[in-house]
Amino acid sequence: MLKLLFADRIENWPAYEPALKSALAEMGIAAEILLPPADPGAIDYIVYSPRGPVQDFTAYTRTKAVLNLWAGVERVVGNPTLTQPLCRMVDEGLERGMVEWVTGHVLRAHLDIDFFLAHQDGVWRQAGHVPPLARDRSVVVLGLGALGGACATTLASLGFAVTGWSRTPKTLAGVTCLSGPEGLRAALGRAQILVTVLPNTPETTDLLNRETLALMPRGAVILNPGRGTLIDDAALLAALDTGRIAHATLDVFRVEPLPPDHPYWAHPKVTVTPHIAAETRPASAARVIAENIRRFEAGETPLHLVDRARGY
Ligand SMILES: NC(=O)c1ccc[n+]([C@@H]2O[C@H](COP(=O)([O-])OP(=O)(O)OC[C@H]3O[C@@H](n4cnc5c(N)ncnc54)[C@H](OP(=O)(O)O)[C@@H]3O)[C@@H](O)[C@H]2O)c1
Repeated sequence: MLKLLFADRIENWPAYEPALKSALAEMGIAAEILLPPADPGAIDYIVYSPRGPVQDFTAYTRTKAVLNLWAGVERVVGNPTLTQPLCRMVDEGLERGMVEWVTGHVLRAHLDIDFFLAHQDGVWRQAGHVPPLARDRSVVVLGLGALGGACATTLASLGFAVTGWSRTPKTLAGVTCLSGPEGLRAALGRAQILVTVLPNTPETTDLLNRETLALMPRGAVILNPGRGTLIDDAALLAALDTGRIAHATLDVFRVEPLPPDHPYWAHPKVTVTPHIAAETRPASAARVIAENIRRFEAGETPLHLVDRARGY
């Protein structure tokens, strides 16, 4: 019988226990799920979270793979004790959550909902406040992976003029796909609404900085559900103060929880959401974990294997 170690926060065990047991049973995998502390030398697979208790993999000599419950891997990808294959989470529930958060905040900006919420004062302000149609609104999505790609195609299906940007060239229905440094400049130059769904790697750190923010149209809106490191915070605050950027809705930060005295909290042009854009859902994530264990046991190519050199 295989031995799995559930190495997420213990408070998540009640939700994951039934989900993992049922997904493993459906897949016909006989496995015992252990909680830390357990003999590391006996563990076949680690169901891992960057917030869990296992961060030193040295003693896990028998372990065939580390199966991350998170989409982002920046906290583990450079771990020198990790010699086993690392798989990240691509989960249907995570993807739907991200699509819904991004679509909601894009529509909020597109329809200028904040303006009307702030002006419920008896004055009939029609002139200049009819929103353009979605097809006349240019939305740019940086990152066209599992999450960014789903956001881009959903926004395109609503009629938005969507441009996407990724490291390697892509083809996505209804989306103008760009790549490379020139592609980034072109994308930012047309970004009335910018959505950043990139991973945290050395290449993406401070991608939005004084120079790149200056390429964006005046009055653009930024939504960042990717990672806090994508944005140079001082440059964004300056761009908000000059009006280059009209508003930023930020879900992720360099330090989380965002400290109470951080300028983002009090800034009138910033909306902070507490890293809730997309959460791994135990039922669908457990099926991905079980499928990957089946693949490893069968000697098949695993799903969502992380490229450690690339960093995501
Ligand atoms: N806020 C939340 O609740 C939440 C939840 C889950 C995930 N996230 C964040 O969302 C990120 C994306 O997740 P995902 O599952 O979509 O990841 P993914 O499938 O690995 O996609 C990453 C995308 O970013 C592109 N990319 C990476 N480095 C790049 C670079 N240097 N230049 C241009 N493009 C680059 C990739 O390009 P290629 O396609 O060419 O490789 C790919 O299109 C995660 O890493 C995590 O940080 C946030």
